[in-house]
Amino acid sequence: MRTIDWATGTAGLDAGGPDTAGVAGFDAAGWIELVDQTALPGELRILRIGTVAELVAAIRSLAVRGAPALGVAGAFGVALAARQFAGDPAGLAAAVHEIETARPTAVNLARGARRAAALLPAGAHAVLREAYAVRDEEIASSEAMAVRGADLVSDLCGTRPRLLTHCNTGGLCTVTVGTALGVVGELHRRGALAGVIASETRPLLQGARLTAWELARWGVDFRVAVDSAGPFLMARGEVDAVILGADRICANGDVINKIGTYAHALGARRAGLPFLVVAPESTVDPDTPDGAAVDIEDRGAAEVTTLSDAVNPAFDVTPHDLVTAIVTDRRVIRLDRGERP
Ligand code: MRU
Repeated sequence: MRTIDWATGTAGLDAGGPDTAGVAGFDAAGWIELVDQTALPGELRILRIGTVAELVAAIRSLAVRGAPALGVAGAFGVALAARQFAGDPAGLAAAVHEIETARPTAVNLARGARRAAALLPAGAHAVLREAYAVRDEEIASSEAMAVRGADLVSDLCGTRPRLLTHCNTGGLCTVTVGTALGVVGELHRRGALAGVIASETRPLLQGARLTAWELARWGVDFRVAVDSAGPFLMARGEVDAVILGADRICANGDVINKIGTYAHALGARRAGLPFLVVAPESTVDPDTPDGAAVDIEDRGAAEVTTLSDAVNPAFDVTPHDLVTAIVTDRRVIRLDRGERP
């Protein structure tokens, strides 16, 4: 991961390991540093974000993406805003709102920004401290989920399962380790994983570009499949469990995640496979009763095709009755046994 020494402002980049950061931190000069996920896998490029407008653009373009990374970026964004709009309360309030609403679906973004914004009356340093707390909690959550999730996968699937995952849920979308992909990494380290199928994740290929890049760095045996192949591969007996992340988990257990998740859940149910969602508690939203209440981002036609009109919802809703278990940093919620978040 990219590490920042807050005292000196120096940064170091560790080129190896499973922990490349989606968001590294806030350096002494007041920049947010993050991996530009639009440039991968071709280039490992670090973006230095110096203004709220740059951060909002990075969020909208998916240079920084994935629910936990968005929460951390939102919190650091408010720290940035506190400096940029010092002495301009109206400008500051507008900037915080811009950050919170840069993307609508992952609850973490608004949550991270609001947590940091609550400290604004205490001054810019207090806001920055809170942003670091948000980041550090995400790191701890990732580590806890990896262990808890790996234990559950081994319990449910026995030794060396073959897992199917969707979108990207590794260190890129958190700060280190990841959510569902963190579980994959932990199983790999334990020698308890046969291999992974990464669905490519149309239209922006978070699976084919980002998950494949992370799995290759970790030395995990993997293959990329087109999204629509998932249910067929499950039916053909090539998958032992589906494991993926979430952008929001509703009070009733409905799971909002990257478009294509619902189809994988249906395929898993049909094939009788566990369907596991790994997400931090910061993604569980008791204020959203169910999937119907969520603003599903529509990213417009251009990402799908420039040749004709298109519909491009970025997320979908997986009904809770298709989910076996939700693994968070504190709990295993067995939806299949009637438990709820
Ligand atoms: O549009 P994205 O790439 O931000 O969507 C990300 C996902 O859907 C991830 O699966 C989700 O954020 C979980 S990451 C822990």
